Amino acid sequence: MKWILSYLCAGRQREHDGDTGGRAGEAVPARGDGKRMSVKSFIARHLRPQRPAPQLPPIEEALAPLAEPFRGVLLSMYAAGSMLGSDGRHHPVDTVTRITPTQGMRFFELCCSMKADATLEVGFAYGFSTMYFLAAAAANGVGHHTAIDPFEESDWHGIGLVNVRATGLQSSFRYVNDCSVHAATDLARQKSAFDVIFIDGNHRLDDVLVDFYLCAPLCRIGGLVIFDDMWMSSIQTVVSFVRSNRHDFVEEAVGDARISVFRRTGEDLRRWDDFQPFAVAGNGRAGR
Ligand SMILES: C[S@@+](CC[C@H](N)C(=O)[O-])C[C@H]1O[C@@H](n2cnc3c(N)ncnc32)[C@H](O)[C@@H]1O
Repeated sequence: MKWILSYLCAGRQREHDGDTGGRAGEAVPARGDGKRMSVKSFIARHLRPQRPAPQLPPIEEALAPLAEPFRGVLLSMYAAGSMLGSDGRHHPVDTVTRITPTQGMRFFELCCSMKADATLEVGFAYGFSTMYFLAAAAANGVGHHTAIDPFEESDWHGIGLVNVRATGLQSSFRYVNDCSVHAATDLARQKSAFDVIFIDGNHRLDDVLVDFYLCAPLCRIGGLVIFDDMWMSSIQTVVSFVRSNRHDFVEEAVGDARISVFRRTGEDLRRWDDFQPFAVAGNGRAGR
């Protein structure tokens, strides 16, 4: 202990003197290469408790419960720098436009535990989230997934469609090439109903609020509406509105800060003039 104290005092004196390099002959332990350590690096190396680096579960491990071909297709999707489009060419992919394996496995588990037989998502892109819904349909032996996206061919080169084809489960999948407002209205006219609805389309506040407004009646009572990207103020604000105003939806704890999950518990029985104030993100109050 004594040598540590004398070393630290010597170091402080050197810092005070403006000399951080250390001088020969003092209590500074020499490194193998003959150079001397600074006080900071000595403390970092020897005195601070060693914190293990946070370990994220490897993708392979996270996806282990999935059956083939979903596991294999997803692993190659997560690893890919480019993916095959419906034009037969490979296109570079951006690695932001996808949900994480942990999120996806949450969707898979929810769909399996509910034995969901109809699922819907707004925002298809490369088809990452779609894979988990289809994997659940295959595991349940029942289920059909619908994905809405007006930009699948133009912006995403049909990559999501190619990925769905790779699973061989096209018969359990429907792609709607339209904006969510039109597609959701059509689905309501067709009296469609879904057990799980994932809202991950345009992320502006008004788009997300309208997506929720139009998707809410499509959700079966007992079913779930899931919002992605809770780090965004727009999504936090919509979720804040739902919490405060939509008593026909009850929030479920899912242990993942990136998503918010609401279960539909009944009809929307608000009076025509009902309004409950809600927090708007950006003032620091609408977060989780
Ligand atoms: C974040 S990406 C979806 C990622 C996908 N859910 C996944 O995890 O693999 C958002 C998608 O929303 C689509 N989008 C944008 N505006 C839309 C709209 N009005 N209706 C439906 N989809 C829309 C975009 O083309 C894009 O593919």
